[in-house]
Amino acid sequence: MARDPKYDILFEPIKVGPKTMRNRFWQVPQCTGAGSDSPDFQAQFRAMKAEGGWAAIFTEACTIAPEADSSPLVTVTIWDDSDVRNLRRTTDAVHEHGSLMGIELYYGDQPVSPDSRITRRAPSQGITDFNSLGTAKPMTKQDIREIRQMYVDAAIRSRDAGFDLITLYATHGHTLFSQFMLPAYNHRTDEYGGSFENRARFAREVTESVREAVGDDCAVGIRWGVDSLPAPFGLGDLGVTAKEDGFHFISHLDDLVDYWDLNVGPNTLSWGEDAAPSRTHPENHERQYTMGAKEHTTKPVVNVGRFTNPDTMVQIIQDGQCDIIGAARPSIADPFLPNKIAEGRLDEIRECIGCNICISKWEQGGPRIACTQNATSGEEFRRGWHPERFTPAKNRDNDVLIVGAGPAGMECAVVLGKRDMRRVHLVDAAKEMGGSINWISKLPGLGEWGRVANYRQIQINKLKNVEFIPGKRMTADDVLEYGAEIVVVATGATWTGDGRGPFMSEPLLGAGADQPHILTPEQIMVEGKQAGDRVLVYDAEGYFMGHSLAARLRSEGKEVTLVTTQFTVSPYSMFTLEWPRLNRELREAGVRIVLEHLLLTAEPGAATIMDFHTDAEEVLDVDSIVMVTQRVPNAGLWDELQARQDEWDDAGIKAVYEIGDAVAPDMIHQAVFSGHRLAREIDSDDPTNPLPYVRERRILGSTDAEYAVGSSLFSPVVQNTKG
Ligand SMILES: Cc1cc2nc3c(=O)[nH]c(=O)nc-3n(C[C@H](O)[C@H](O)[C@H](O)COP(=O)(O)O)c2cc1C
Ligand code: SF4
Repeated sequence: MARDPKYDILFEPIKVGPKTMRNRFWQVPQCTGAGSDSPDFQAQFRAMKAEGGWAAIFTEACTIAPEADSSPLVTVTIWDDSDVRNLRRTTDAVHEHGSLMGIELYYGDQPVSPDSRITRRAPSQGITDFNSLGTAKPMTKQDIREIRQMYVDAAIRSRDAGFDLITLYATHGHTLFSQFMLPAYNHRTDEYGGSFENRARFAREVTESVREAVGDDCAVGIRWGVDSLPAPFGLGDLGVTAKEDGFHFISHLDDLVDYWDLNVGPNTLSWGEDAAPSRTHPENHERQYTMGAKEHTTKPVVNVGRFTNPDTMVQIIQDGQCDIIGAARPSIADPFLPNKIAEGRLDEIRECIGCNICISKWEQGGPRIACTQNATSGEEFRRGWHPERFTPAKNRDNDVLIVGAGPAGMECAVVLGKRDMRRVHLVDAAKEMGGSINWISKLPGLGEWGRVANYRQIQINKLKNVEFIPGKRMTADDVLEYGAEIVVVATGATWTGDGRGPFMSEPLLGAGADQPHILTPEQIMVEGKQAGDRVLVYDAEGYFMGHSLAARLRSEGKEVTLVTTQFTVSPYSMFTLEWPRLNRELREAGVRIVLEHLLLTAEPGAATIMDFHTDAEEVLDVDSIVMVTQRVPNAGLWDELQARQDEWDDAGIKAVYEIGDAVAPDMIHQAVFSGHRLAREIDSDDPTNPLPYVRERRILGSTDAEYAVGSSLFSPVVQNTKG
């Protein structure tokens, strides 16, 4: 399909200093958990986006020296020539697709890196946002000179590694550049503190030196947090505002840079105001701060704002907000977003849902990136998965029946459809596809999560070999009579109302989904079961369900007490960056919050809770108790089919598999992954068990060739790697 000419502006080349971008799509710095130590993971992850049409790709933040290390949070490192060698793999892979490769030089915010154990230096002594146990050393003039040299050395190594674009990281409150600029961190009284010119001096000197060192070999730019935001989610009076220091910084350094990558830059703990969840921020939420910046520069400007809508992209270039569309999450959810716009395939764009699962992995300081929408993210090298290419299955002359059209079943159907299975029937008791997503997306703020279902529904409707059959609850008899050779059970899970969950292996006294005073999430959201006036929401899970239901019930005028076993409301939301706002919102709405308590009894009219640490018990007078404790698989169909295995042959069934929450209830991205994994490996020797994936690490005695995908060491992966 041809591209709509209204999008042509997105594909106009643009000069960025000595380099030229082939279009206006720029993948801003974004972590993967790979760093420099997993060079093939890093390279394939970035190359996929280059192949998908992003004209400029960046690594994540890259620490410039051991003392700047940010472990346990994983970033790229460019400390010495070994890093140059490893990162060369990424620049080469990206260049093969005609894109520019960028690096973001970073001096981080750990007072003492737990790994390198070298003390960090900072503009002034103070507790940092990352670590309250130690402080950084205040910099002398000699320190400033030394660190300036570290930037220069890192820039030269970046050039030698083949990077085209060198961004100096000056946002998110935890970089040296921003800490010199922000009064919250800079208490100096010498020529590096106080006035605007003094606070900007470090940035000016370093940029000047880097510029001079790399000359025209690389474009040099700054990623600047143009506004550190008002309190309570920003630094308020201790920060900078766009209209004052924010824009002034741009004009002050404009002669030294080739581009500006602009976002908002509150402190580290509030970086969710930039990588903002859809729960609280719409697309292009940073416009109110970045708009107007272009009047202060003659250089190209990049903006971010969870851009997935091409009309928004066109509009913000046309109305002067920016010249280049920056994106982190939209490029993770769909590495081929630019190409899909270019080719007029807008209905194939896999839009980011703003859940921040990708970020949650990094925030945990170890796991590799994962994405709810894109099951292949992070699996490009490890499993050889390509988000857009699928091999015809060796057993494609079979019909597949998938029972359950939730996230796992839908994803499985899409991938099996693309793998040319003869017929794929996706059957669900409900009238619509989507499963639990259909009601989860009706929780406060979670509307965009509905894209998990919408995207897949559109793809399924386009696939001629995939058919959705609504309104049919399948029994084992139905399955045995259906005539499909391969059966996939994707029947999902249900919240138990009996109180079983963490710390509670037995049902609670008085609890049970059939009790009038007990409510499960599904009963509230799907069945419309009504809560009384005084409600206790018991959250033993610690992610989105408990606080979302508390907020919803409070908005209906109920008196709500949220009791949780956890040390804070929704600890997982700390990783997804939703935590600051949701906590404030709950409290402002008047939800009573009780932390670190167990629910002991759940009888009508009274619930007994117990303090973890003192064993003190309290009886709460409540009319209803919402149980957010544990989900259990909807295993009836699976169990019955297993019990009737001896009938499979006669029914023509060759295999029955199980995916998603039906196997073990987990987070949505895991359900999608599970459906995808089975479909990718449907023709392996044993599809029930995942094939091995490449673990990038030093293997004694191995050669480079053995280490690569497709080598004899990893032969099981080979069958999935050819495009
Ligand atoms: C997984 C992930 C990791 C990120 N890591 C970095 C980073 O290393 N350096 C940085 O400047 N920004 C980082 N960011 C922030 C993004 O560059 C970007 O400013 C933010 O996500 C908003 O853009 P988006 O709405 O397109 O995601 C990261 C974002 C994500 C989603
Ligand atoms: S994990 Fe969620 S927020 Fe991150 S890219 Fe995927 S869909 Fe977007």
